[in-house]
Amino acid sequence: MDRLKNKVAIVTGAGAGMGRETSILFAKEGCAVAVFEVNEQNGMQTVNDIIANGGVAKFWKVDVSNEENVRQAVDEVAATFGKIDILINNAGITGVDKKTHELTVAEWDQVFNVDVKGVFYCTKYVVPYMLKNQKGSIVNLSSIYGTLGAHELTPYHAAKGAVFAMTRQDAISYAKNNIRVNSIHPGTIMTPLVKELGSRMEGGLPAYEKLMSEKHPIGHAGEPIDVAYGCLYLASDEAKFVTGAQLYIDGGYSAM
Ligand SMILES: NC(=O)c1ccc[n+]([C@@H]2O[C@H](COP(=O)([O-])OP(=O)(O)OC[C@H]3O[C@@H](n4cnc5c(N)ncnc54)[C@H](O)[C@@H]3O)[C@@H](O)[C@H]2O)c1
Repeated sequence: MDRLKNKVAIVTGAGAGMGRETSILFAKEGCAVAVFEVNEQNGMQTVNDIIANGGVAKFWKVDVSNEENVRQAVDEVAATFGKIDILINNAGITGVDKKTHELTVAEWDQVFNVDVKGVFYCTKYVVPYMLKNQKGSIVNLSSIYGTLGAHELTPYHAAKGAVFAMTRQDAISYAKNNIRVNSIHPGTIMTPLVKELGSRMEGGLPAYEKLMSEKHPIGHAGEPIDVAYGCLYLASDEAKFVTGAQLYIDGGYSAM
């Protein structure tokens, strides 16, 4: 119940999928949650559900690819809650499914603006508050696709690879300041993002789910709560000696 007692977390993309599940779990563990979400209705839903269960949460309409949006919201979170202990860089999009020679610059930039610049902006504006306290935990949502290739989603692979590299670099930059930075690499997790992706495949979502289940040695896709528990561990003081690590939550996918 108290694994994050008296802490303050920002969770980006907290209106759906893993961000939503992580926010709800964090609130149950005693954390005040700043919900950063571009979709106002979904963000407010997460906040209302947390408050209805006795937790503390507040909504900020933030597009993580907009620097000014991020800067302003981060300052407001610190003013509202007095500090920032945890940043979960979760907001992400998959973008188009094309090979490199077929991609337009705009399609490439669309993914990098959210998945890479979004992590950069949030980290850039949160770190000064963590430096003030000489303590913090940042968790970046990369992917199995950030370290492994596959037959799909080229710009997404590149973007998640950048997030993987940014994690290790920031882990070293801020280790002496007791700001830990780790990445999580989920396999297929059945969230709205994946359901939308699957529905674009020939045979629709059932065909996608079957294909992905076969690729995970455990025999099925994961659930958002599987990733939320990983975020909880890395965000908590239980992980005080863990920085620059990659946590695969993938049913054995990356072990093959
Ligand atoms: N689901 C998977 O199988 C899977 C696997 C590996 C990695 N990931 C990564 O995990 C993270 C969460 O994935 P998910 O499946 O829960 O996604 P999702 O699409 O279900 O939820 C993502 C949320 O982020 C929000 N969002 C999108 N762009 C935003 C922006 N510019 N600013 C603020 N919010 C924005 C969306 O509105 C949505 O509420 C992503 O970074 C994703 O790339 C997902």
